[in-house]
Amino acid sequence: MKEIRDNARKLMKGFCRVCPVCDGKACAGEVPGMGGINTGNAFKRNVSALREVTLNMRLLHDVTDPDPSSNVLGLDLAMPVMAAPIGGVSFNMGGGMEEQDYVDAILGGCKDAGVIGCTGDGVPEFIYKSAFDGITKFEGHGIPFIKPWEGGEFEEKLDMAAKTGCSVLGMDIDAAGLITLRLMGRPVSPKSPAQLKEVADMVHDRGLKFILKGIMDPREAVRAAEAGADAIVISNHGGRVLDHTPGTAEVLTDVAEEVKGSAIIMVDGGVRDGFDVLKMVALGADCVLIGRPFCYAAIGGGRDGVVKYLGTIMAQLKQSMVLTGCKDIASAGLHILYDAF
Ligand SMILES: Cc1cc2nc3c(=O)[nH]c(=O)nc-3n(C[C@H](O)[C@H](O)[C@H](O)COP(=O)(O)O)c2cc1C
Repeated sequence: MKEIRDNARKLMKGFCRVCPVCDGKACAGEVPGMGGINTGNAFKRNVSALREVTLNMRLLHDVTDPDPSSNVLGLDLAMPVMAAPIGGVSFNMGGGMEEQDYVDAILGGCKDAGVIGCTGDGVPEFIYKSAFDGITKFEGHGIPFIKPWEGGEFEEKLDMAAKTGCSVLGMDIDAAGLITLRLMGRPVSPKSPAQLKEVADMVHDRGLKFILKGIMDPREAVRAAEAGADAIVISNHGGRVLDHTPGTAEVLTDVAEEVKGSAIIMVDGGVRDGFDVLKMVALGADCVLIGRPFCYAAIGGGRDGVVKYLGTIMAQLKQSMVLTGCKDIASAGLHILYDAF
């Protein structure tokens, strides 16, 4: 990983420093770029909140070969981890790699490692076009995310996405706060529960499952599930849309309690290693998305870099499962944490 990170640091010069700890401090305010918005507090808080969660060691048991596999939204995964949707390699990461090569590295690397990658959306057009072309190339093994576009634009992109062969599709509703879309003259807005239901119905009509990304409040999670979301992602968009939010780990348990059983609970923000993955699962997540570390893995090492990063996550996850006595993912819960929020 050191070689991959060193290479990424060169290729992402001026956009990402590939810090020893990716915590939003050095890149605060760099949006476009890799940072969090304004003071970068929301990004930093994702990382610091997760750091506050501690795993309690438990060693008097017979778990030596835990099973980290999971089925999420009908997808069999080697572990409950996905690459978060990320778009805009040129204006966010310095353009050291073409958008299409980036998408292919993420989707291919995730597939090789037995998990799945999500793709991003935005302006310019090549962002979603590369995403849909990549998912088609990998025979539907990818989850496209589309922004909450107005008018007929969402449906138009939905039709294109459905042709990729994917079985699940997401919308990042929190893109309503994205400065990058505003700068390009294409801002999007929040949606009422009735509008959201129309979106969920459109997605279901194409035979796809629907993920709504950008939930931070238990009541919003209930509304999303009632409107037809099959899964929600607890996310503040990596701290890129609203400064001064809590960390996602802080709100996870309350949100999960409200919708457990009615929607699949996914989360992202500040997850860096396999120990963080287990913490999020213990706090109530069914699946964990990781964002920025996949950028350096893919840009610094291509498809192999992504596989290597996921191999590290898998080893850490298994190690933490042994040392907390979790024989499988379903066995992880608040009881393996010490003094969580
Ligand atoms: C450069 C960059 C671009 C992103 N583009 C998208 C996008 O197109 N769609 C989306 O839903 N989220 C996007 N995100 C948010 C990520 O999906 C994810 O929520 C966030 O990166 C998670 O935090 P982490 O990077 O700390 O793991 C982007 C994030 C970054 C850093």
